[in-house]
Amino acid sequence: MFKRVAEPFRIKMVEPLRVTTRKEREKALIDAGYNPFLLKAEDVYIDLLTDSGTGAMSDYQWAGLMLGDESYAGSKNYFHLQNAVEDIFGYPYCVPTHQGRGAEKVLFPCLIKKKGQFVLGNMHFDTTKAHIELNGGRAVNLVTEKAFDTTTPYDWKGNFDLEKLEAFIKEHGVESIAFILITVTCNSSGGQPVSMENIRGVSGIARKYGIRVFMDAARFAENAYFIKKREKGYENKSIKEIVREMFSYAEGFTMSAKKDAIVNIGGLIAIKEDEELFTAVKTNLIPNEGFVTYGGLAGRDMECLARGLQEGIKEEYLEYRISQVAYLGARLIEGGVPIQQPTGGHAVFVDAKKMLPHIPYYQFPAQVLVNELYLESGVRAVEIGSFLLGRDPDTHEQLESPLELMRLTIPRRVYTNDHMDVVADALIAIKDKAFTLKGLEFTYEPPVLRHFTARLRPVQG
Ligand code: F0G
Repeated sequence: MFKRVAEPFRIKMVEPLRVTTRKEREKALIDAGYNPFLLKAEDVYIDLLTDSGTGAMSDYQWAGLMLGDESYAGSKNYFHLQNAVEDIFGYPYCVPTHQGRGAEKVLFPCLIKKKGQFVLGNMHFDTTKAHIELNGGRAVNLVTEKAFDTTTPYDWKGNFDLEKLEAFIKEHGVESIAFILITVTCNSSGGQPVSMENIRGVSGIARKYGIRVFMDAARFAENAYFIKKREKGYENKSIKEIVREMFSYAEGFTMSAKKDAIVNIGGLIAIKEDEELFTAVKTNLIPNEGFVTYGGLAGRDMECLARGLQEGIKEEYLEYRISQVAYLGARLIEGGVPIQQPTGGHAVFVDAKKMLPHIPYYQFPAQVLVNELYLESGVRAVEIGSFLLGRDPDTHEQLESPLELMRLTIPRRVYTNDHMDVVADALIAIKDKAFTLKGLEFTYEPPVLRHFTARLRPVQG
C-alpha cells in the first residue's frame, strides 16, 4: 500500500471548479479542433497541462505582493531576490526576466559565438532548443539511453551519457561547441533527475576540454530532493547544501521561476563569477526584458519570487510534492497503465505507444489519449511525442519521436490526492477500451510550433 504524505499546509482560500457533462466536453473538444490547448480553461475540471505558473502561492508570498517597490531602478524587491539567489545558489550576480524563455533569449547570444555551434544537453526543452536555433546554434541531446526504456526503472533517467558526451566533443572539436546545458530535472525525459555524480562528471569533461557549463534550473529543488533520497552520501545533507554543490559545477543558469520557485510569472539568469559575461547579459537584458533591477517583472512579482525560492527548497514541502506525483504513478501502475518508471518530479508520463499500439506515430497516439482523458473526465493533460516534435525541416517528413508520452503535469500545492484518484480512475477506465480509439489527422497545420494552434480530427474511414 502506497503511503500518502499529507499536505504540509492548510487551505485558506478556494477556487471552485466547474464539472461538465460528457456531452459538453464532446462539443468543447470539437470546437477546440481536438487540440486541448484550444480549450477554454473553464471547460477543464482538473488541469494537468503544465506545472508552469500554475502553482498556488503561500500566504507569505501573497503578503509580499503588497510590499512591491515599483521603482523603475533599484527596487528593494530586486535586492531581496538577489539575496535569495546568492543564499541558495551561491551566485552573486543575477537579473530577473519575465520567464524562462526570456532568460534564454538574453543569455544564449552571449554564449553562441559562431553560426552552427553545438549546445550539448541531456535533453533540451522545446523553447530552449528554439532559442539555441534562433541564435544560429544547434541543439544536441545526449541523455542516457535508459531514459527511452519506460518500463525498466532507473534512478537517473535525466543523466548525460558521459561516453557519448566525450565522444561528441572529440569528433566535432572543442571549437564547434558553444556550451553544455544541464537541465535539472530533465523535463523531456519525464521530469527525471540528474545525479550529483553525473553533474560532476559533465563538469569534469567540460573542464578537461575547456567548455563552459550552464544549468537550466527550472526544477532545481526537485532534482536536489531526488539526490538526497537516492544518492549515497547525500541523505543527511540539507536541500540547500545539495543545491549549492549542484550549482558549484556550473558557471551560471537560466531559470523559469514558474516551476520550483512557485510563482505565476518570472524567470532568472544568475552567474557565478564571470563579470564580463554578466555585463554582456545586462547589456542584452535592457532592450529585451527591461532594466537590470526589474527585467520584465513588477517589484511585487520579484518579492513573491524571492519568497518562493526559499519555500521551494523546504524539505517537508518537497516530500509531499514528490510523493503526490509518486502516488498518482503508483495508482496507474496498479491499474495496469504503462508509465515512465520511476515517476519524476513534476509529472507522470503515460506511455501512449504501449497503451495504443494500434495507432501509428503519424496519427499521434499520445494526443489521442489526451483527448480521450478529457472526454472521460474533464482532465486536461498534454502530448509530448511526435505531434510536438513536428517535421524534418529539410524533407518535411513527419518525425517519429522515440517516446509517445502523455504528460500528467501536477501543479504545485493546487490539487489534492483525491483529485489524483479522479485522474487515475479515468485512465484505468480508458485502458480497457483503448483499442477502439482512432488516430488523428490535421485539418490545419501551422508551420512552426504547430502543437499550440493546430486543428485535428479523427482519421476518416
Ligand atoms: N526550461 C525547461 C526545462 C522548461 O520546462 C521550460 C518550460 C522552460 C525552460 C521555459 O520556461 O515557460 O518560463 O518560458 N516549461 C513549461 C512546461 C512550459 O510546460 O514544461 P518558460
